[in-house]
Amino acid sequence: MGSSVAVVALRRLAVVGLLITSLVIFACSASDEPLVTRIAFGSCANQSAPQLIWNAITDFDPQIFIWLGDNIYGDIRQPFKLFGKERTIGPWKNVPRFIPASEQEMQSRYKRAKNNPGYSRLRQSTKVIGTWDDHDYGLNDAGKEFGGKITNQRLLLDFLDEPQDSPRRKQAGVYSSYTFGPVGRQIKVILLDTRYHRDPLFSDGSILGSLQWMWLEKELNGPPSAITIIGSSIQVISNLSATTGPLFSLECWGHFPKERDRLFRLIRDSKRDGVFFISGDVHFGEITRYDCATGYPLYDITSSGLTQAVEKAVPPPLHFIVRFVAWLTPTTMRVMGRNCRYKSCTYGEPNFGAIEIDWDSTPVAMKIEVRDVNGFPVTGVKTSLLELQTQRIDSVAAIRAEESQKYCTLEMNLPWIVRYRLAILFFCTLAILLLGLIGLTYAAISVSRRCLHKYKFD
Ligand SMILES: [Fe+2]
Repeated sequence: MGSSVAVVALRRLAVVGLLITSLVIFACSASDEPLVTRIAFGSCANQSAPQLIWNAITDFDPQIFIWLGDNIYGDIRQPFKLFGKERTIGPWKNVPRFIPASEQEMQSRYKRAKNNPGYSRLRQSTKVIGTWDDHDYGLNDAGKEFGGKITNQRLLLDFLDEPQDSPRRKQAGVYSSYTFGPVGRQIKVILLDTRYHRDPLFSDGSILGSLQWMWLEKELNGPPSAITIIGSSIQVISNLSATTGPLFSLECWGHFPKERDRLFRLIRDSKRDGVFFISGDVHFGEITRYDCATGYPLYDITSSGLTQAVEKAVPPPLHFIVRFVAWLTPTTMRVMGRNCRYKSCTYGEPNFGAIEIDWDSTPVAMKIEVRDVNGFPVTGVKTSLLELQTQRIDSVAAIRAEESQKYCTLEMNLPWIVRYRLAILFFCTLAILLLGLIGLTYAAISVSRRCLHKYKFD
């Protein structure tokens, strides 16, 4: 009897020993994965433009760099022509402003981008991953109808050094996910493809397509990670077009409200903490947040572009107009703060995104910034993994009571006088200028008539 008890005890001891050994081995092998503390990201890099910003990015010394699209400008832009036989602009345009380039042309543009000395230097020390947007997909604002997508998928994956046997080369679209860092301190990066399956603009159809949705559902419901970064080429939270219409429009998830609701619902139902978005496309940088999607603030850090930027499109003396318009445009989601370079908390010159994680602080702290060509922050947010956790209902209610007016009001729901104030100002200014011009013409005609009359009389 006594010996059988001893045998059982010994067996239990052996099992416990085995468990401890396996845990130690697991912990050791897990800790082999280096801790990730610095990630950079960017978008909109014209291969023909000077790309000085790589110096600031390499100085930041990121362990990972994420491309968010327009990694090259692959399509061909026709000249801006308002009048004439071939008009590329205005409601009367009769030829497209953008046309796709040949495969050889795309390849040579990718080659130029890849051989850029600054980018080459970054690639030597940094893991580079990425997705695409319209201009490297092959055509401005294009979606699932674009015929060159299969060829261009191969060209993008070649640019990103995707292994030849990677399943990513066999699927329809370039969406992908990565997990970095040791267990317990893992960062999952989910890169979406917002082009390959996207229905026509303003259709309120699908952005991701059914297969990508199934994949995303699996990714979000899969093993937990401390941080989950979702990379989307177009903005997820900000729907600026709702307030800039009918003057101009920007692509965003807000144009597909059902699809965006589905994304928010999926994140909420997955009960995944520590999720935030990064995005590009718009040629300026900003940080937005939405507090009514999940039980915690959902941030979207937009960095655009590495070379392309709205202020570069106008002469320097007119930069103040761009900044004024940015300040005037109503936004319910933009994170405003005293640490922004400009009052609007947008940044219309070349920029990149920088994420820093302090794993040693309690709670784990994160600093996410948009930085300029010299590496200086122009807007940023400090948060923690505690803040990005589903809160208890009462604390959510407290947050909402404080900030609901700002971060829970969709741009679409603003009173029309606020929502369209940019257009109202524009058309009022135009009307005043027109009236002034008519008045001046009338005065000039009256004066000249009087002079003529006087001359005849004399
Ligand atoms: Fe772009």
